[in-house]
Amino acid sequence: MDHFAYRDGRLFAEDVDLGVIAEAVGTPVYVYATATLRRHYRVLADALAALEPTICYAVKANGNIGVIATLAREGAGADVVSGGELTTALAAGVPASRIVFSGVGKSADEMEQALRAGVLQINAESEPELELLDQVACRLGVRAPVALRVNPDVDAHTHDKISTGRREDKFGIEWTAAHRIYARAAALPGLDLVGVAVHIGSQLTDVSPFREAFRRVRDLVAMLRADGLPIRTLDLGGGLGIPYGNEGTAVPPPADYARAVVETVGDLGCRLIFEPGRMIVGNAGILLTRVLRIKEGSTRTFVVVDAGMNDLLRPALYGAWHEVVLVREAQPGGEVREVDIVGPICESSDAFGSGRKLPAVADGDLLAIRSAGAYGRAMASSYNARPLVPEVLVDGSAWAVVQERVSVEAMLASQRLPPWLGSDVAAVRVAPAIAGRRG
Ligand code: LLP
Repeated sequence: MDHFAYRDGRLFAEDVDLGVIAEAVGTPVYVYATATLRRHYRVLADALAALEPTICYAVKANGNIGVIATLAREGAGADVVSGGELTTALAAGVPASRIVFSGVGKSADEMEQALRAGVLQINAESEPELELLDQVACRLGVRAPVALRVNPDVDAHTHDKISTGRREDKFGIEWTAAHRIYARAAALPGLDLVGVAVHIGSQLTDVSPFREAFRRVRDLVAMLRADGLPIRTLDLGGGLGIPYGNEGTAVPPPADYARAVVETVGDLGCRLIFEPGRMIVGNAGILLTRVLRIKEGSTRTFVVVDAGMNDLLRPALYGAWHEVVLVREAQPGGEVREVDIVGPICESSDAFGSGRKLPAVADGDLLAIRSAGAYGRAMASSYNARPLVPEVLVDGSAWAVVQERVSVEAMLASQRLPPWLGSDVAAVRVAPAIAGRRG
């Protein structure tokens, strides 16, 4: 359930007409509903309550500080995968003691940043990483709280590009090597081996791969404890899918996921950490875009909108399906056309939907691309020199710009002509009228 619904023929985000935001901020713009963020966080927290979970919101899904701060007020910690995300989470008010640092390629600087901040746990994914972390910790005179992310070799049955728990995936320490590597890591003086971590993929629509992975984690914990390692934390990752509106099968409710956790690892006496991203923010956001023009082809009708694949990459990258709706509600029984909704980028994959049935749309109409709160703005780029789009957070009838539109001037300000081409930056200055065009 989300909080984007029609009222008197207009699509609202909570109590705010999306047309009002489009007029004031321009398009494209991401709009997030606080009520949905809170609701999804609470549904998960309630489902897991008996386990006294530590829920570390996966910042990579949506790294806006307004979003992170909203969740932090609900009690969420953060799962971060870079120094930038760590800084952002701290800036949003997440205490370091509730931050997990994950990721397959942490640099020594990032390890130092995490240790100085005093994060809850660092999830390591290889032997060389453990060795480097040990060195950094010894240099700082601390012991790094570390969990080994294991790769349980379980197929999550999700999109190939977001599957992470199979042997051939780059993530985690191979299941079969985990026991040996734990034993080695336990001897390193800079490491405090606190736990086991696992994350098998994203947008899972079935709980059985979770069960399978958690059972393997359970076996590993038994083995490690028998070796005298006091495993205290289990980080079970994220991955619970959300409905995008086109699934043949229903997405499992958090209660089913919670049951799988209880029945597999609930009795191990470990602190349980979760890293949900998509299930909290995915349906809490839309991308608001304006129709630039309708282009009639001989075989298709293209609705050209002002958002592009640089603003929302998921359809181009994964063939992901996002529902697209009109902000002004169509009249029942009105004309419906089959159209392709495309962006302005010079790539054929720059499309948000093909063969979509839409009510008759006209130039200037506003469209909402739904379920865009996770991995939307977070994966945006400035391809085609298109400025990164703004973000708005709604709370009831209040709304605020929580990320300004990045201007073309700001983008150019960090570019330099090399000395051999002269230093006259005026030559590359843009006229303000062009810079502000998308605002
Ligand atoms: N923990 C780890 C270690 C992860 O790698 C991820 C996501 C999460 C937690 C959060 O997973 P979630 O609950 O959001 O499924 N860009 C793709 C998704 C990539 C997911 C990467 N890792 C997409 O747009 O579908």
